[in-house]
Amino acid sequence: MAILKILKFGDPTLRKVCRPVTEITPRITMLLDDMTDTMRVNEGCGLAASQVGVLRRVAVIEVEDGVVYEMINPKIIAAEGHQEDVEGCLSNPGESGITSRPERVTVEYTDRNGEMCTLTGEGLLARAICHECDHLDGKLYIDVQIRPVKDKKKR
Ligand code: NI
Repeated sequence: MAILKILKFGDPTLRKVCRPVTEITPRITMLLDDMTDTMRVNEGCGLAASQVGVLRRVAVIEVEDGVVYEMINPKIIAAEGHQEDVEGCLSNPGESGITSRPERVTVEYTDRNGEMCTLTGEGLLARAICHECDHLDGKLYIDVQIRPVKDKKKR
């Protein structure tokens, strides 16, 4: 396992659309391991592959300590409600903003074993799912930011 370098806002790689994973190779499972380590060491609750310079549709989320969702080719298939809350990004340390997101989303993804999974999240988990899926399309939280706030919260 390794701690990866996280690209910062302004890096053009963060604006690229990631390609789907067609085969779960050891390289992909190692990427998942390294991304989880990198997310944890930076005290984030999500990380997308583009943030570590890999343009593949891979993301990890840990909103609740010890519960890591490893998502390959995640796709939001349902969204409802509305929330406005604080959101940040490990690619934009020290900054955060109030964003507009659905209150509840359902995402389909493939896990590291190739199994199709469905996850429904509310509140913070819904925000994290939206945030990481956006990264895979080259979108950043500042695109849905209502107003910036200053604190240390990271995502
Ligand atoms: Ni982010």
